[in-house]
Amino acid sequence: MSAITVKDLAVSFGHLSVLRDLQLGVNQGEFLVLLGPSGCGKSTLLNAIAGLIEPEAGTVEIGGRDVTHFEPKDRGIAMVFQSYALYPKMTVRGNLAFGLKVARLPRGEIKRRVHEAAEFLHITELLDRRPVQLSGGQRQRVAIGRALVRNADVFLFDEPLSNLDAKLRAELRVEIKRLHRDLGSTMIYVTHDQIEALTLADRIAVMKGGIIQQLGTPREIYDTPANLFVASFIGSPSMNFLEGRIALEGDVFHYRNAIFDVPLTAYPFARPPSHGQPVLLGVRPENIAVDGAPKPGEFCAEANVDLVEPTGADTVVWCQVGTHSISVRVDAAQIINERQKLCIGFDPGRASMFDLESGNRL
Ligand SMILES: Nc1ncnc2c1ncn2[C@@H]1O[C@H](COP(=O)(O)OP(=O)(O)OP(=O)(O)O)[C@@H](O)[C@H]1O
Ligand SMILES: [Mg+2]
Repeated sequence: MSAITVKDLAVSFGHLSVLRDLQLGVNQGEFLVLLGPSGCGKSTLLNAIAGLIEPEAGTVEIGGRDVTHFEPKDRGIAMVFQSYALYPKMTVRGNLAFGLKVARLPRGEIKRRVHEAAEFLHITELLDRRPVQLSGGQRQRVAIGRALVRNADVFLFDEPLSNLDAKLRAELRVEIKRLHRDLGSTMIYVTHDQIEALTLADRIAVMKGGIIQQLGTPREIYDTPANLFVASFIGSPSMNFLEGRIALEGDVFHYRNAIFDVPLTAYPFARPPSHGQPVLLGVRPENIAVDGAPKPGEFCAEANVDLVEPTGADTVVWCQVGTHSISVRVDAAQIINERQKLCIGFDPGRASMFDLESGNRL
C-alpha cells in the first residue's frame, strides 16, 4: 500500500501561478481531504498527483517511487471525478470492465473483479442496464466501481458527490467511508463541503489561494484553527468574532468599548501577545452558554436576543452583544424569545485568539 509525498510543487497555467512550493505528505491508508473555496487549487493539486497536468517544478512520490514523469496509468492510482462520464452505449458491466479489457487482463479475472465491485457497491442487479436507465446515485456508484475494479493502492476523488441531491450525498458519503474502512487504501478526496470533510477525513488540508493554510485532524481544524480563514471557513453558523485588545497587566481581553473584559488566564497562548495588541476573540456558537451563573474564571456579558432560529435538533439564537451580532446554539428544549435579555458566557480556555492584522492564531 502506498503513501504519497508532494515536494516543492509548482503549477502554473500561462502567467497564472496556481501552486507554489507546495508540500504535502499523505500517510499509508490515510483518508486525506483537500478542502477550500472554489478556485483555490484543489483539483490542480489532485491532477498533478494523478499525472494529468505537468508541474513546473517539484516532485510527486507514490509508494516510495518518484512518479513525477510517469503517465497517469503507471502511477498505481484510480480516480473518480465529479462528472462521472460513463460510456452511454455500454451496460454497467461494460463500463466496469472497459479499463480492464484495455489493460488486457484475462477474462476470468475481469469477470471476478466486476462481480466483486458490483457486490460491494450494491449494483449487481444493475449490471445489464445502460447509464441512461440509472439514477444519479446509481451512476455515481458505477463511477466509483470503475475505480474500484482497478485494485489501486491509491484513490483520488474530485468532488464525486457534488452533482447529487442532499439526501443522496449523505447516503453515499457513508458508503465512501465504509469503502475506505474496508479497503484500507490511501485516499485523497477533494471537496468544498465542510461536512463531507469533517465526517470523512483522517486529516484535512484547508487550502486558500493555492496555499495549505492548515493540515490537521478534523478536531484540530475545528477546535484550534490556525488562522482567521480556517476559523471562518469551517462551522455553521460560523465562529463568532469579537474585536478588542489585549490588556496584559490584567491578563484580559478588553472588548472594544470596554463594555466587558474576558479573563485570559485559562487561554493557552501559542505565542505571547503584547500589551494593547489588537485581536479578535473567536468563540463557536455551541461553546456559548446562556443564563448559567458564571463559574470562577468565566465571564458573563449582557445580550439582547434579536432572532430565534429553530433547526430541529437545536436552536440558533442571534443576539446583540455590544455592537456585535452573536450566534448561540442552544438545546431545542430551551425556550428563548425575541427581544429577551440574556446573560451569555463561555469558557475562554476553549476560545480562539487571532492577531487582528495577520489573522494568525495566538
Ligand atoms: N487548464 C487551466 N487553464 C488555465 N487556468 C486554469 C486551468 N485549470 C485551472 N485553472 C485556474 O487555476 C485556479 C485553480 O483551479 P482549480 O480547478 O484547481 O480550483 P478548485 O479548487 O478545484 O476549484 P473548484 O472548487 O471550483 O473545483 C483557478 O483560478 C482556475 O481558473
Ligand atoms: Mg475543482
